[in-house]
Amino acid sequence: MTTESASSEVRVHTVSPELPRLGMNVQPILWVDNVSVSFEGFKALTNLTLQLDPGELRCIIGPNGAGKTTMMDVITGKTRPDTGRVYMFGQALDLTEKSEAEIARLGIGRKFQRPTVFENLTVFENLELALKTNKGVWSSLFARLSSEQSDRISQALTTINLTGRVHTQAGLLAHGQKQWLEIGMLLVQDPKVLLVDEPVAGMTHREMDRTAELLQQLAGEHTVVVVEHDMDFVRSIAKRVTVLHEGRVLAEGSMDEVQNDAKVIEVYLGSEAAQREQEKAC
Ligand SMILES: Nc1ncnc2c1ncn2[C@@H]1O[C@H](COP(=O)(O)OP(=O)(O)OP(=O)(O)O)[C@@H](O)[C@H]1O
Ligand SMILES: [Mg+2]
Repeated sequence: MTTESASSEVRVHTVSPELPRLGMNVQPILWVDNVSVSFEGFKALTNLTLQLDPGELRCIIGPNGAGKTTMMDVITGKTRPDTGRVYMFGQALDLTEKSEAEIARLGIGRKFQRPTVFENLTVFENLELALKTNKGVWSSLFARLSSEQSDRISQALTTINLTGRVHTQAGLLAHGQKQWLEIGMLLVQDPKVLLVDEPVAGMTHREMDRTAELLQQLAGEHTVVVVEHDMDFVRSIAKRVTVLHEGRVLAEGSMDEVQNDAKVIEVYLGSEAAQREQEKAC
C-alpha cells in the first residue's frame, strides 16, 4: 500500500475535500508522507510513510520506543515534524500547517492511554461538555442542547454501552467504562479519524472483548487507528497491521503476514512471545 508507485499516483491526482465522500478507497483519508522527527539529535521517526483508507481499522504495533506515540503526536499537531507532511483527504489538507485545535476540528480525535474524563461530572455531563467545547464557542456552554445534539449524545451512549449509567458520576465508573466514556466524548464530536493509544491496558478480559467489539463497530463510519501491545487483542480485531521499528515501517499486511515476517519476529514478536512464556512460567 505504501509503495512509491501508490504514493506517486496519489500525488499526481490532487483532489478536493469533497472527493473522498464519493466512495471508499478513492484517496487516503490520512497520509503521513516521509515524516522525520528528532529530539535533541535522536531520531524518533525517520522518513515514516503511512496511508490510511477511509473507514479502515488499522493496528499499529512495534517495540517500546518504535515511534508509535510520536506518530500520533505528529498527526494531531502536538509535535511538528522536522521534514515531511501529513495530508488529509488525499492531499487536500496539510495538517502540519494547522494547530492542534484546528486538526481536532477537522475531525481527528485522539484517545490517550489514561482516561481523561471529568471524574466529578456525570457520564451525560462529560459527553455534553465534549460536544460543546468542540464547537470552540465557550459562550454556548450554558446554552440548551439542540435536538440534533441530544440525539448525538444518546447515539454515543448506546455505542459505548453506557445508557444505563448516564447519571452516574464518571469517577465511580469501572476502568473500562471510563475508557469507553472517553471514546464517547470523541464520538459526539463526529470525528472522521480516531487515534487510540493502548486502549486495553489495565482492562479485564471482558472489558477487552467489549472494546474489541466497540472499535470494530466504529470502523467503517470512522477510520480507526489502534496502537496496542497486547497481541491477543490485536489479533482479535486486526485487518491491516503496520509494524513500526526505530521510527520506520518495518512491515505491513494482514496479521498472519506480519506474524510470519522474519524481521518482525526478530525485533518484536519473538521477544513478546518469550515474555509471555516467562509470565506463564511464573
Ligand atoms: N518529547 C520527547 N523528548 C525526547 N525524546 C522523546 C520525546 N518523545 C519521544 N521520545 C523518544 O522517541 C522515541 C519514540 O518514542 P514513542 O513514545 O513514540 O515510542 P512508542 O512506540 O510509543 O513506545 P511505547 O510502546 O513504549 O509507548 C523513544 O526513544 C522516546 O524516548
Ligand atoms: Mg507509546
